[in-house]
Amino acid sequence: MTDFTWDPDTYLDVMAEEIPDYPRLQSELVAAIVEAEPHTILDLGVGSGLTAGRVAEALPQAHILGIDESEEMLAGAAQVLDQNHSSLAHGRLEDTLPSGPFDLVMSTLAVHHLDGDGKADLFARIARVLVDGGRFVLADLVVPPDPSDVITPIDGVVDTPSPLAEQVQWLRAAGFTPRVAWQHRDLAVVIADKAERRPPQD
Ligand SMILES: C[S@@+](CC[C@H](N)C(=O)[O-])C[C@H]1O[C@@H](n2cnc3c(N)ncnc32)[C@H](O)[C@@H]1O
Repeated sequence: MTDFTWDPDTYLDVMAEEIPDYPRLQSELVAAIVEAEPHTILDLGVGSGLTAGRVAEALPQAHILGIDESEEMLAGAAQVLDQNHSSLAHGRLEDTLPSGPFDLVMSTLAVHHLDGDGKADLFARIARVLVDGGRFVLADLVVPPDPSDVITPIDGVVDTPSPLAEQVQWLRAAGFTPRVAWQHRDLAVVIADKAERRPPQD
């Protein structure tokens, strides 16, 4: 994806051109979220709210807090999401996350903007804002093992995806039990579950 200022009005056209499997990526993420039945959701890099909107359609009673560093995209999200079941805030993935705790954290096509250390650090901080037994669902660009599977143009500056295997390792190091729910070429959805707290022993 090329380096430009995100614009909610042209966002879908850019997606259709650069990430043709975006609708499938969204569907796979929604399925991974619905099975966890969360009531409170944090969306990291909510953008213009299109993916959060699909989650809201599937889970109309859930509350979604979306954060993003782009005021323009947040303004787009405000048009799409039901204010009774969502809130939006300016925030960067590198900064302290809203404390929650949340039943579920989701992120679509935003984490690949962080470098490897940044991703590993973010995964550890996500684990801390999830309830015990909570779930993180990551839907993002990855570096596929076969270079001919790269579909989306990567500039290596703003876009710094990592191999899926490395991300799975970082999720494990953060205390999650990760599993790949779906992978196709340079896209993947990973489910990362946080352990339930063990009842105290007598
Ligand atoms: C490709 S869009 C994805 C938007 C949305 N999640 C979706 O599914 O359509 C990437 C979004 O991540 C945001 N973003 C990128 N880097 C970020 C960062 N470091 N902190 C917060 N938001 C970031 C951008 O502003 C943009 O809205």
